[in-house]
Order: sequence, then C-alpha cells, then structure tokens
Amino acid sequence: MSDISGDKSLYEIAGPDFFVHLVDAFYDGIETDQVLLPLYPEGSVTTGARQRLALFLIQYWGGPDTYMQERGHPRLRMRHAPFVIGASERDHWLMHMAAAIEQTITEIDETYREHVTTELAHYMVNTAEAMRNV
Ligand code: HEM
Repeated sequence: MSDISGDKSLYEIAGPDFFVHLVDAFYDGIETDQVLLPLYPEGSVTTGARQRLALFLIQYWGGPDTYMQERGHPRLRMRHAPFVIGASERDHWLMHMAAAIEQTITEIDETYREHVTTELAHYMVNTAEAMRNV
C-alpha cells in the first residue's frame, strides 16, 4: 500500500488540537468506565491525566517535547506498573480509544484520514498490549 503521508509526521498532519481533542474524548469515556476509573489515582478529576497523555502523544508523534521536559523519560511500562492491567483493562482502554479516534478523526483532512486512523490504531493496540502486567 502506498504511503500518502510523504515525510510528514502525524503531528504535522494533525496538529496539537487534534491530540487534545482525541484525549478529551478518550477521558470522557474513561470517566464512565467502572472497570478503569478506580485505577486512576486522581479518580474522576482527570485534568492532569488528560494533560499528560496529550503531551505524551504530541511528543511521540513528532511534536514538541514538552512531555519530556515536564515528566522526564516516558518509561511507560514502569509508570503503569502500580496499576493491575490485564486483558480486560487493556480491552476497556482500547474500546475508549477506538471510540475517541472515530469521534475526532473528522478533524483530519480527508486525504489523510485513513493513514492517521491506521497509524493510531496500530500503535494503540501494540502499546496497550505492552502495558499488560498480569
Ligand atoms: C492498557 C490499558 C491502560 C491502562 C489501564 C492505563 C492506565 C493508566 C493510569 C491509571 C494512569 C495514571 C493516570 C495519570 O496520569 O494520573 C496512566 C497514565 C499514563 N498512561 Fe496509561 N494506561 C493504559 C494504556 C496506555 C497506553 C496504551 C498509553 C500510550 C499510548 C498510555 C499512556 C499513558 C501516559 C503517557 C500516562 C501518564 C504518565 C505520566 O507522565 O505519569 N497508557 N495510565
């Protein structure tokens, strides 16, 4: 399959607002989730968690490294170690992320929508599986 993105990073294609909106839609879902919400140390006050995930994704996809400056090296597996993450938690997390992608992908230029969806979905599925610790 040809890659229509050229050399553009996902951040260049999508811009910072897309990632902020994606994470907001995602956390709106998390806040209704009785399996996942108890895991979050700040409970239903997700302001900080929203900010951390958005900055992480912006950095990961080629944007500014504000996450690194504020939080240091991501070391995601280590940061998730305090939370019990099994297949059920992974699936709930991915369900909210898939819904958030579907909800916000319309903000992306139509030419790039399929490319962005594929990249995001692939990365999220792999990373969520990597966060499993039980
Ligand atoms: C597999 C299911 C997952 C569960 C149950 C989970 C749960 C959590 C929890 C409870 C936190 C703490 C919230 C906070 O920041 O206050 C957290 C933080 C975080 N998660 Fe996840 N997570 C999962 C997967 C992922 C994935 C796939 C990614 C990356 C795409 C990710 C990225 C992050 C980031 C960047 C933070 C903030 C780290 C920090 O700077 O402290 N998580 N996660």
